[in-house]
Amino acid sequence: MLRSPYTKYDRLFIYHLDTIDIPAINDPDWIGTWHEDGNGIVFFHTEKDAFMADLCTRHNCALIYQADLSYEEWDAGQAITPFTVGSLTVAPVWDETKADITLDPSVIFGSGFHPTTRKCLQMVNKYTTTPELHIRSMLDLGTGTGLLAIGAAKQGTRVMAFDNNPLACEVARANTIYNRVDTLVEVKEVDLRTNPVETENIDLIVANIHPELLKDLFLSPDFWHGNLYILSGFMKSMEPELLAHLDTRSIKFLERTRNGKWCVWVVAPNTSTFLKG
Ligand SMILES: C[S@@+](CC[C@H](N)C(=O)[O-])C[C@H]1O[C@@H](n2cnc3c(N)ncnc32)[C@H](O)[C@@H]1O
Repeated sequence: MLRSPYTKYDRLFIYHLDTIDIPAINDPDWIGTWHEDGNGIVFFHTEKDAFMADLCTRHNCALIYQADLSYEEWDAGQAITPFTVGSLTVAPVWDETKADITLDPSVIFGSGFHPTTRKCLQMVNKYTTTPELHIRSMLDLGTGTGLLAIGAAKQGTRVMAFDNNPLACEVARANTIYNRVDTLVEVKEVDLRTNPVETENIDLIVANIHPELLKDLFLSPDFWHGNLYILSGFMKSMEPELLAHLDTRSIKFLERTRNGKWCVWVVAPNTSTFLKG
């Protein structure tokens, strides 16, 4: 996350360690620490080779690799600039454009430049601004920067946002505060593989996540009690495998759309109150 004196990202110095047991880092150049598959990934604005070598010695852990990238290289080679989707303009915190959503994307998925994020935001905006649907509650499964949750909260929807990456949760919470929707969005650090989500009485469930996790969710008996689902995170070639995990007799497709090779499905279970009347 951006902390004073930093107001934007330039270079990223990334240290991948063989442990998640990393002490709090009190250094003005520290951006944050990720956990992934039992490893810790520490991000700084400046080179910290000696600091990290010392940390590894003191905490008996090893550096697996180190990388030094520009911020654009980290975000698939593109600069993060303002954009508009539906009724929402989104701008990074370092840009002076007047925007509905101001985002610190940090080093977290969800700047708005990935085709899945962009299309999901478009769908979230479309359905939360459809007055007849009265979408009042949403789950954001794998919230990343919190952009989709904030997009819904801007229309007055209450959101419970989940992510298993502690840095994503910290960034998403900070973004809800910047955007003055922290009273509407609650961010929780949860591993969705081991904690089933309860969708009963939820109007909208959004999941832009890895297809393996989507398949697990599809098979979970608690998953299909909500009203409307926006699902993404998979390419066209992966659709047949995902369809094989869906009971298509009890799920109705409302939209099956794409942004490039990435797919977004909008579906509703037959029990959805949105399909009645
Ligand atoms: C593809 S990103 C989507 C981020 C954002 N919702 C968007 O649309 O841009 C998927 C997010 O899911 C989170 N995630 C991955 N596995 C997870 C799990 N088992 N439980 C909870 N969150 C998970 C990741 O940390 C990441 O932030």
